[in-house]
Amino acid sequence: MNEISAPRPNNLDAFWMPFTDNKYFKANPRLLYRAEGMSYFTPEGREVLDGTAGLWCCNAGHGRREITEAIQKQAALMDFAPTFNLGHPIAFEAAARVAEMTPDGIDRVFFTNSGSESADTALKIALAYHKARRESSRVRLVGRERGYHGVGFGGITVGGIGPNRKQFGALLPYADHLPHTHLPAKNAFSRGQPEHGAELADALEAIVALHGAETIAAVMVEPVAGSTGVLVPPLGYLQRLRELCTRHGILLIFDEVITGFGRLGTNFGSERLGVTPDIITMAKGLTNAAVPMGAVATSQTVYDTIVDGVAGGIELFHGYTYSGHPLASAAAVATLELHRAEDLPGRARAIEPYWQDAIHSLKDRPNVIDTRDFGLIGGIELAPRPGKPGTRAMDIFRRCFDAGVLVRVTGDIVALSPPLIVERPHVDRLIGTLADAITAEAA
Ligand SMILES: Cc1ncc(COP(=O)(O)O)c(C=O)c1O
Repeated sequence: MNEISAPRPNNLDAFWMPFTDNKYFKANPRLLYRAEGMSYFTPEGREVLDGTAGLWCCNAGHGRREITEAIQKQAALMDFAPTFNLGHPIAFEAAARVAEMTPDGIDRVFFTNSGSESADTALKIALAYHKARRESSRVRLVGRERGYHGVGFGGITVGGIGPNRKQFGALLPYADHLPHTHLPAKNAFSRGQPEHGAELADALEAIVALHGAETIAAVMVEPVAGSTGVLVPPLGYLQRLRELCTRHGILLIFDEVITGFGRLGTNFGSERLGVTPDIITMAKGLTNAAVPMGAVATSQTVYDTIVDGVAGGIELFHGYTYSGHPLASAAAVATLELHRAEDLPGRARAIEPYWQDAIHSLKDRPNVIDTRDFGLIGGIELAPRPGKPGTRAMDIFRRCFDAGVLVRVTGDIVALSPPLIVERPHVDRLIGTLADAITAEAA
């Protein structure tokens, strides 16, 4: 492939870019054209090391031949077929593969096309579950401050990132939020799970006391909050949340869109953290992002309650034209086979100590007020510039990109999540470039 012959857009106007400063970007475009292994390449052929697995999704690295060929083969065999009252073998195979990886007992799989759709699907399943149990008063949904569950109305209602909510009116009724778990005064520079904060889960008791357990359908949290800037759960926090949900008959939903598929060194984060929820949402790494796909895995009890709750006919009035799309299913089967064959979670586990040291080596750089890590995730929090929050990290992002390294920023936090095939020299280059950029932006 010759990047020099890459087509160049001559008009950037039409594409309204998501979560982007459109005016700035269109005046200062940064384009990616090709990807392979650990790297992107710009249209001019300049290599950019991927420190973020795209957007937390290309866990097996880019341009994996096995996945590409599976998609090509499936496209030639059957481009599309509905899954409403019909089926095709590859979708069932993809679901079975997912069920092999999820924790024991969480083995019924509903397909969506994204993390956002997975979040809204999970919330709808929770409501349908209680209705099927004749507990239709359970309509209240509980999320957490600083949580991110995509951009659907359900997801932003239980999500807790202010800017993602404030443009969009009243959202869904009957939602509450647990406090976030970020305690910098006690936990700054923690290695792995922070020590303090398990008791923050007890806020659920206050919500139960206020509204009554009989009104609450579900609690949805990310095991590790990523998009808000890498918040690692305090030791014991998720265990306590699990106990409280069980005690009050509330379904616990883990949004594993970024922690699924090896990111924490296990197939799902639940396994690493030792807590099994009732429902798991996923997307991203499911297909290595080669074709959009998400999924919701539920316990057999949740599935049976809804499916056996009606005598005949459709049991759940929910689904997408593309649920179990043949190309996405083929990509999922090939991706999950790669995970197994190459033991990608094992690779993540093996490099985690080196990664952890590298992340925390940034702690003495100027303006660094916290470094945190878990699995193959790193977060570096910077002191905001007075009166200009977010600009320091954004300038670091741009500086890194121009120096050949892709990082992600959210507010004044740099979030790192490389493909799980990352090796020590990549880590050195990623962290070295970031260290230089942090220092340069302090000047
Ligand atoms: C935890 C979590 N949930 C949901 C989503 C939304 O996924 P999507 O952008 O595919 O809709 C994301 C995306 O980053 C996420 O991190």
